[in-house]
Amino acid sequence: MSSIEILSAGLVNRIAAGECVERPASVVKELVENALDAGAGRVDVSILDGGRELVQVVDDGTGMDADDLRLCVQPHATSKIRDDDDLFNIHTMGFRGEALPSVGSISRLQVTSRTRESDVAHTIHVEGGRIGAVAPCGARPGTTVEARDLFYCVPARRKFLRTNQTEMGHITEHFARLALAHPAVAFSLKHQKRVFHNLPATDDRRRRIADFYGPELAEVLLPIRREGNGVLVEGEPWVGQVGVHFRQRPLRA
Ligand SMILES: Nc1ncnc2c1ncn2[C@@H]1O[C@H](COP(=O)(O)OP(=O)(O)O)[C@@H](O)[C@H]1O
Ligand SMILES: [Mg+2]
Repeated sequence: MSSIEILSAGLVNRIAAGECVERPASVVKELVENALDAGAGRVDVSILDGGRELVQVVDDGTGMDADDLRLCVQPHATSKIRDDDDLFNIHTMGFRGEALPSVGSISRLQVTSRTRESDVAHTIHVEGGRIGAVAPCGARPGTTVEARDLFYCVPARRKFLRTNQTEMGHITEHFARLALAHPAVAFSLKHQKRVFHNLPATDDRRRRIADFYGPELAEVLLPIRREGNGVLVEGEPWVGQVGVHFRQRPLRA
């Protein structure tokens, strides 16, 4: 009898989840990237218990119809690449089709979505990798993804999670990177229903920095811009002047 066995799809997903979902902040990163890939003009992130209890990301992007909802939680299912050539011409933040199935294999995941053309929304639930049926429901155009009880079925990983404050620190770091790079998109970040950041859409990067870090820092930062040989380097990283530094704003977890 052979000692080699092909792993079940559930186990394969859970192993893949180990790479793509290290902690709640990774879920926030993957879900916000999906919202940005969907052309969202507004992304609202709500966290409970440092992400252990809930990571919710609401966007007003393209949305998905019932067929796409069924597919989006399947491994290696993506709308972002089709063939080999696309691999060398990537314009989106994701393309591997791994995030949603990975998150679904280690949490209770609910994806609710409505396209702009449709007047009905649909929702799908995945629990520890078990995918439910798509059902119609009421919701605004766009997509809401909720991951609850992170790592509830992987106790070893859940034990590894740190305090709310530490997890919120990691979440804020990912949130900052994405929000600072996309000033034209409005963002908010809440923890335990309290607003941490509320960033209106703007065409001014300095304004976005001011909204995130406070006006003192935004005023002293120097933007960088250099063009040559068909390459443009602009904006981030903005550089600080020698001798000017600020402590991170304290987090209220
Ligand atoms: N917020 C969203 N809005 C619209 N479509 C989404 C959203 N999140 C996921 N999708 C769809 O589900 C697919 C799978 O998402 P994901 O597992 O993150 O893989 P990837 O981003 O690598 O394609 C995406 O390709 C996209 O078509
Ligand atoms: Mg993705």
